[in-house]
Amino acid sequence: RAPGWAACQVVQWQVTHGRHALPWQNTRDPYRVWLSEIMLQQTQVAAVLGYYARFLERFPDVQALAAASEDDVFAHWAGLGYYSRARNLHACARQVVALHGGQFPRTAEALQTLPGIGRSTASAVASFCFAERVAILDGNVKRVLTRLLGYGEDLAEARNERTLWALATELLPQTDLDTAMPRYTQGVMDLGATVCTARSPSCLLCPLQSRCVARHEGRMQDYPVKTRK
Ligand code: ADE
Ligand code: SF4
Repeated sequence: RAPGWAACQVVQWQVTHGRHALPWQNTRDPYRVWLSEIMLQQTQVAAVLGYYARFLERFPDVQALAAASEDDVFAHWAGLGYYSRARNLHACARQVVALHGGQFPRTAEALQTLPGIGRSTASAVASFCFAERVAILDGNVKRVLTRLLGYGEDLAEARNERTLWALATELLPQTDLDTAMPRYTQGVMDLGATVCTARSPSCLLCPLQSRCVARHEGRMQDYPVKTRK
């Protein structure tokens, strides 16, 4: 397998067939990107759009959010559900202001120390805003990568999940990171959301089809493997 092949395919596909008009795209402001990633963790894009716009209107930057009362933040979150996200969001904004001078840290490793920011969210922010070469691995991306690689180990086992993180990292772009990393991250998200879907993947539209193990096996539905949880 040529190193970088999959990344190049995903990057080119993102440019021609990916999503480009979402309100948290075409910005490298970590506040806007972070807010979108937190809202999108358990909520669909269509449901997030209105909340995102109203939230940014009321809290245009991390200072405004940090200065707000908890009640005000919750009022603008009401309806999105998973309210621990709103509490962490507020706590995170306050930490960015109190401990980081109002600037989000610029590495995934440092971002992960903040409330509500896990490994995948940290990687999303760092790759979109700072072009850091770090992998995301949310549910959609796990599906794309396990199918592509024919990775059939049980992801309920922490050891296998760690292996998949390492494989996801190997697949990242190797060159032109400043443009390739944001496009690649958005591209794998878009592929999982629009092409490599859970129920009926559109393999004939997929830029990875020629080297996809699951497709060649005719076993797309068998990935990813996850028992219990
Ligand atoms: N889900 C999580 N992050 C996303 C993004 N940047 N664009 C679309 N859907 C997403
Ligand atoms: Fe998913 Fe099909 Fe693409 Fe493989 S070829 S990554 S199964 S859409």
